[in-house]
Amino acid sequence: HNYCVIMSGGVGSRFWPFSKEGKPKQFLDFFGTGRSLLQSTFDRFKQIVPAENIYIVTNDAYAEMTKKQLPELKDNQLLLEPIRRNTAPAIAYASFRINAIDPNANIVVAPSDHLIMNTDEFVADIQKGLDFVNSNPVLLTLGIKPSRPETGYGYIQVNEEETGGIHKVKAFTEKPNLELAKKFVDSGEFVWNSGIFLWNVNTILDAFKKYLPDINQKFSEGKEVFNTPDEKKFVDASFPFCPNISIDYGILEKADNVYVNISNFGWSDLGTWGALHEISDKDGESNASLHCKSLFVESNDNVVAMSEDKLVVLQGLDGYIVAESDNVLMICKKSEEQRIKHFVTDVKFRY
Ligand code: GDD
Ligand code: MG
Repeated sequence: HNYCVIMSGGVGSRFWPFSKEGKPKQFLDFFGTGRSLLQSTFDRFKQIVPAENIYIVTNDAYAEMTKKQLPELKDNQLLLEPIRRNTAPAIAYASFRINAIDPNANIVVAPSDHLIMNTDEFVADIQKGLDFVNSNPVLLTLGIKPSRPETGYGYIQVNEEETGGIHKVKAFTEKPNLELAKKFVDSGEFVWNSGIFLWNVNTILDAFKKYLPDINQKFSEGKEVFNTPDEKKFVDASFPFCPNISIDYGILEKADNVYVNISNFGWSDLGTWGALHEISDKDGESNASLHCKSLFVESNDNVVAMSEDKLVVLQGLDGYIVAESDNVLMICKKSEEQRIKHFVTDVKFRY
């Protein structure tokens, strides 16, 4: 009774202009492997749970794209949100559905847009985690040793005590400011939240009851319609009333039964250009170029990405993102990359 929920409804706006609302990064084949990030995520989980136990939760707008990329998916494996409300309502929806199918299910919830380097280790950690939550009423997350003070992640302070690599969490801080992130990394007591969660369905439903009672209330009203033909109508009507909140702010920061497995399977959330720069092949001056040829002159620490096979020449530029896709060219300081999502809104507003 193991299940997987893949969250695939985000817009990946920090990766603009490659990732856009019409085709967010989970649907892109970043590295030319022939499989998009979503497809690769699905492939990985097929090694852990039966394919029919994998659910994709995404926005109505991405239903067709999802079916096209994953033709083996049956209609009942696609959970569709009428409106974007971030990850907590998405996870609540999936939990109510799975609970109606198997009231004792163990679930792994995962993002659709991450890069995992070592699949075997990943599979082993997920299996270990599923076993752990099967016998412990805890919210388990996979933690990653931090390599820089990234402000786009959740930071987990771990208790030293452990059982088989699994530690109790002292504190969970979602997206700290830079100053705090630096302190956390320097202290050596923190790991990054990978955003991959494991729990028994009863444990997560209890947490919704306790920490996000509005969401719990909304879905409880239609408890009996889940996994019936009336589900879609009910969800379409209820979803807009859910608060817009991520599972990290809504539950993980607040709960006192959070545990973390410290993992080491080679992970990148590909969340930003900086994250991509970090894992890419680079020249001696730390410049990376993706999908294109580049000539770097007196330039260091840049990341250049072009949608087609263009040639790019850079002179005297340090620490920049130069990214082009379709009819958009963006040049942005790498250290300011968290602002990219605001540029996306500004551009939409003006043009
Ligand atoms: N279905 C659905 N609906 N999926 C969503 C929605 C939504 O409204 N919003 C986001 N997602 C999906 C994204 O597509 C992604 O796969 C996953 O949920 C996580 O959302 P992000 O928006 O990418 O979260 P984040 O990167 O800012 O932060 C999370 O991940 C970090 C690691 O990558 C947090 O869990 C952090 O604590 C964590 O460090
Ligand atoms: Mg992310």
